Amino acid sequence: MTLKQYFDKNKKIVEEALKNYLPKSTAYPKTIHQAMRYSVFNGGKRFRPILAIAVCEALGGKLKDVLPAACALELIHCYSLVHDDLPCMDNDDYRRGKPTCHKRFGEANAVLTGDALLTIAFQILSEVKDSKVVHKLLPLITHAIGSMGMVGGQVVDKELENKESLELPEISYVNIQKTGQLIRVSCLSGALIAKASKQHLKAMDDYGCHLGFTFQIVDDILDSDGFTRIMSRHEAFNEASSVTVKAKKSIQFLNSKSKRLAEIADLILNRKK
Ligand code: IPE
Ligand code: MG
Repeated sequence: MTLKQYFDKNKKIVEEALKNYLPKSTAYPKTIHQAMRYSVFNGGKRFRPILAIAVCEALGGKLKDVLPAACALELIHCYSLVHDDLPCMDNDDYRRGKPTCHKRFGEANAVLTGDALLTIAFQILSEVKDSKVVHKLLPLITHAIGSMGMVGGQVVDKELENKESLELPEISYVNIQKTGQLIRVSCLSGALIAKASKQHLKAMDDYGCHLGFTFQIVDDILDSDGFTRIMSRHEAFNEASSVTVKAKKSIQFLNSKSKRLAEIADLILNRKK
């Protein structure tokens, strides 16, 4: 199967599962359920859930076991986008080519939609069959997305918005926290669900960190922001390339099973959207 076929196949599976997890748009109160579905089914790449699936499968785990956590991670990502687009944050009118949640449903409903997507993600996580795995996943995920992770990255990102001279460590902090942590924990979740050994968990942790960092550097290049505020696009791409080499090194132990994960690392580096 080519990488594209692998993504297409899993995207369908994830979207079908997400449709079943989210309340119907006719459920009362309709507005929030419509807004939740609007913000989830709007053409996302589903990169984080597919990454969790790919890591789980590379380590011998099963799709059906990782699917709930994969969906929860995508819903957390969707919540973060709805809030990131708000007028008090990045004030964006469009997301994935469509009017943002607050443009379509109003600001209060967009805040609440983010809240509801984040909350349902944990409801889904609580339904992961193996309670020992849930016990390990919860602290990892909450740490990755809270004030020491994604939220912390967003805080510093806002603080740097109007700052004139920026330093590499602060931009790196933002990239690692606001984007990298959720990608890293997607890899870790896949590995935990596959019951990876401590050594393999560490390797997937490294792989995820490198992918997450690369993802945001490439985003900065595509958006002319972040890294490209302090270096040329060419330099930023070189940085992303060298991090990708590290990502691929950390999965070498998988031998032939590392192929898919190496392809994903290259995809992130070379993505155009
Ligand atoms: C966009 O993420 C926001 C970042 C964290 C850089 P994606 O590029 O994965 O967005 P979707 O989910 O495909 O729309
Ligand atoms: Mg932002």
